Amino acid sequence: MTLTPRFPRFLHGGDYNPDQWLKYPEVLEEDVRLMREAGVNCVSLGIFAWAQLEPEEGVYDFGWMDGVINRLWAAGIRVDLATPSGARPAWLAQKYPEVLRVDEYFRRHHFGGRHNHCPSSPVFREKVRAIDTALAERYAKHPAVILWHISNEFSGDCRCPLCQERWRDFLRARYGSLEALNDHWWTGFWSMRYTDWAQVESPSPIGQDANPAMWVDWRRFSTQQCRDFILMEKEALHSVDPSIPVTVNMMQRFEDYDYFDLAEAVDVVSWDSYPAWGQDDLRAASEHAMTHDLMRSLKDRPFLLMESTPSLVNWHSVNKIKRPGMHLLSSMLPLAHGAQSVMYFQWRKGRGGSEMFHGAVVGHDGTDRTRTFREVAEVGRALGRLAPLYENPGREARVCILFDYPTWWALDYAQMGRRGAMHFCDTVNAFYRAFWEHGITVDFRDSRHFRADGGYSLVVAPMLFMLRDGIEEKLRAFVAQGGTLVMTLCSGVIGEDGLAWTGDIPHGLTDVLGICAEEFDTLYDGEANHLTFGGRRYALTEMCERIRAEGAETLAAYEEDYVAGTPCLTRHAFGAGQAFYLAALAEEPFLHAFFRALAGELGIPRALDADLPHGVIAQKRGDAVFLQNYSGEAQTVALPGTFTDLLTGETVAGTAGLAPRGVMVLVS
Ligand code: GAL
Ligand code: ZN
Repeated sequence: MTLTPRFPRFLHGGDYNPDQWLKYPEVLEEDVRLMREAGVNCVSLGIFAWAQLEPEEGVYDFGWMDGVINRLWAAGIRVDLATPSGARPAWLAQKYPEVLRVDEYFRRHHFGGRHNHCPSSPVFREKVRAIDTALAERYAKHPAVILWHISNEFSGDCRCPLCQERWRDFLRARYGSLEALNDHWWTGFWSMRYTDWAQVESPSPIGQDANPAMWVDWRRFSTQQCRDFILMEKEALHSVDPSIPVTVNMMQRFEDYDYFDLAEAVDVVSWDSYPAWGQDDLRAASEHAMTHDLMRSLKDRPFLLMESTPSLVNWHSVNKIKRPGMHLLSSMLPLAHGAQSVMYFQWRKGRGGSEMFHGAVVGHDGTDRTRTFREVAEVGRALGRLAPLYENPGREARVCILFDYPTWWALDYAQMGRRGAMHFCDTVNAFYRAFWEHGITVDFRDSRHFRADGGYSLVVAPMLFMLRDGIEEKLRAFVAQGGTLVMTLCSGVIGEDGLAWTGDIPHGLTDVLGICAEEFDTLYDGEANHLTFGGRRYALTEMCERIRAEGAETLAAYEEDYVAGTPCLTRHAFGAGQAFYLAALAEEPFLHAFFRALAGELGIPRALDADLPHGVIAQKRGDAVFLQNYSGEAQTVALPGTFTDLLTGETVAGTAGLAPRGVMVLVS
């Protein structure tokens, strides 16, 4: 399936900001020549160009953009055209200060920066709608335009009086009455009880800051605000021409909004991936592979890599440049996971501004003579060779990881355990990694989208702290029908409203798991308990639960402290299936050993039936196996047969030799 029907190809290109170079017409000419040379076939245009598009209120200047788009089109380069709402012009802020965001200290911000508007402001909405409509009217029919890039990296929230009104509307709709709100937020605590809707304000460090249920609701509200804004922009574009899909670019480990909800508002999921290469490449790759699979899972469709750097970024604390070969390898990572593009920030380095030293395809030298340029051109050629894979993102998964944004929020706002460091995402990544390194494809589902009959053999629910959308019943049905479920500590503790369940936990699942969680404990840094599995001893750190087996068999017990001899890893047969419970955070080698054994028992296929050296990853997309070397050393892989490497066209028989940062795309 294609995400961009007007141009069904792998997209290669990136953020293009000719609006910064309007006084350098020769540069704009040269850009197009260099783009062709680099194998660029699509650019994201005009992302922050509002001030150039509407220099005065209501006065549009599309002349320069006409020229750019026509020049690109004449060279066969397509356009992912942006709406400019990510940064507003100075005149707008000056004339209508209400468009400026109010922060958590209730301070109205001044003009500057980006991504900092008020999503409720009627004036801001009106101005965005007007320019979006004008852009659509002028360009939707242009054959170069294949995608709408709505705004840029939506983030944050506003606490202005208008947003406070909407917050109260949201709560009224959610709870019906102030009485119900008081009950769900447990406002008997610290005399928080509200007696008038007007008393309800957003959470704030100088106001109500300590109520976790309120915080989770605030994140839900922020999600709704953002979603509503996206839908407003989408409607403006699609009322002119509904045929061009819209996307918003999302981010890594980004917690402000529930991306499952935002994904419903757009046609195409895209995201910006900036691993810090050159430290622990395997870890960095695993974290970004996980987000690629999460992004693919949001709509259960391919996705676009909207931004990545061709060389380095400027906002990590240490900005290390990609070593030779890393650009091709890191560009194959998203493709292995179902991406239909490799796009960059940015095409050309600006001469000023905060990102003047951020990596770009074309540097300040302005030439094609750089290593970065050559490596980008190499990716362009590689995408051409991989064209046969375009229509086949096939990532058939038999393993599903449950991942709920509200659980993430609830764990982060809960004042418990390792306060502020409950490590939900790290835990999910550790579990994901055990499959990823073993060549097993994983889907992510949230509780809302999870179905018991979704075709999975194994469902893993790391730290399912909050139970929502009847997930207990779905998991029960999944196991009863023969599925294998793995749950962990910190599960089934609170309901969707944030209130702790009364009675045994994990709520509604104790009979499925055959255990009951009794005490939750936190270890100091450097402390560990242990368990033994498959003849090896593994460390348990940070958090653990004392559980009672109530029907489950103990596969491994705690070995130290007052819990010594009590169950830590259990298994329980339920209906036609089985449910495991891991009561502590275990070191990664345990997760690898445990899940490899389990996947073997369940007959879950791997991308490549081969013993891979540590740091070599095989992932499957359709019939192709992406063999990637993140080990930093040359590696030899014994292959089960003879393959062709699509990247070189060469036959690879018996063994594959991978250079450090080497990559092959094998088909048989
Ligand atoms: C992204 C952003 C781009 C650019 C880039 C730099 O987060 O969308 O506009 O700032 O980071 O890495
Ligand atoms: Zn506001």
